Amino acid sequence: MKIGSIGVIGGGLMGAGIATRFALAGFDTILIEADARRMTQIPVIVNDILTELIDAEVCAPAQRQQAQQLLSVTSDLSALANAVIVIEAIPEVLEIKQALYAQLELLLPAEALIMSNTSGFLPDLLCEKMQHKQRFLIAHFWNPPHLIPLVEVVAASATTPDVIEKTMAVLRQIKAEPVLLAKAIPGFIGNRLQFALLREALHIVRSGAADAATVDAVMTASLGRRYSIMGPLESADLGGLNTLLQIGTHLMPELANDQQPLELLRKQVDQGDLGLSSGRGFYEWGEERTASISARRRALLRRNRTA
Ligand code: NAI
Repeated sequence: MKIGSIGVIGGGLMGAGIATRFALAGFDTILIEADARRMTQIPVIVNDILTELIDAEVCAPAQRQQAQQLLSVTSDLSALANAVIVIEAIPEVLEIKQALYAQLELLLPAEALIMSNTSGFLPDLLCEKMQHKQRFLIAHFWNPPHLIPLVEVVAASATTPDVIEKTMAVLRQIKAEPVLLAKAIPGFIGNRLQFALLREALHIVRSGAADAATVDAVMTASLGRRYSIMGPLESADLGGLNTLLQIGTHLMPELANDQQPLELLRKQVDQGDLGLSSGRGFYEWGEERTASISARRRALLRRNRTA
């Protein structure tokens, strides 16, 4: 058993990438996965993640072996008995997350931090049944966690400042870019921004003003590029607040502000068109489009490395 390890619980879409980040940064990392079939897939997934990072020269080929040696996968929760930090990345079901925290409280050292990667639940609700709520907080990674640097840190009412400080410090050690919310709000920051934009994109498509590819082209050729170097508020300063006030005064009443645009998603879901996973969503997902996404990801990684 390793002293002072990092534990990641749930080796799915998020957990495998999060664990790889910690191992790459030199931490002994234990990934707990309950599903036997998924467990056998994890070494291959981790290897693919490392290949992507090596191909893009984000990490050196020599780091592959070190990361693989530092990352162990097991279904045995007791392997975390000496963990200093545990990040929960199991499915988004309140009861099973709370049941897991109860098990962790019996198992972990008293000073170990417990973080959740939840994208939906507020921290006070998640930890409401915990005995030692002061050690709990949310660390919300973004998908894919090995590529997106943002982690939203959201404290519960009882979380102590030293727990927040330790969390921010360890996230910086794995080269993440953590941001701390001043208070917990549904959707945190990133998903609120994402869904505000998605609502308007759906509204435009639904209104017939443009198809999905046109909306996406507008985004990638303009706002996407701008937003990778500055946020909407710094951008507002550059545009001139007086000008934005004038535009906003007549444009904002025109924007979607209800759930109507979601009908477009509902229609697709009812038809079984789920996007990449079913082969069709707004686009047809064949090999060519999937390969094009991989190429764009590699290009982004290279740009970030040289920036
Ligand atoms: P997933 O379904 O891909 O992976 C969850 C994994 O946890 C599965 O492999 C499952 O077998 C395993 N598992 C379930 N119960 C377990 C237990 N008691 N012990 C150990 N392993 C267990 O889910 P995903 O997408 O990785 O999401 C995990 C969490 O991260 C959720 O809370 C989700 O809201 C959040 N999240 C998801 C994002 C996404 O884009 N999918 C983005 C950011 C956060």
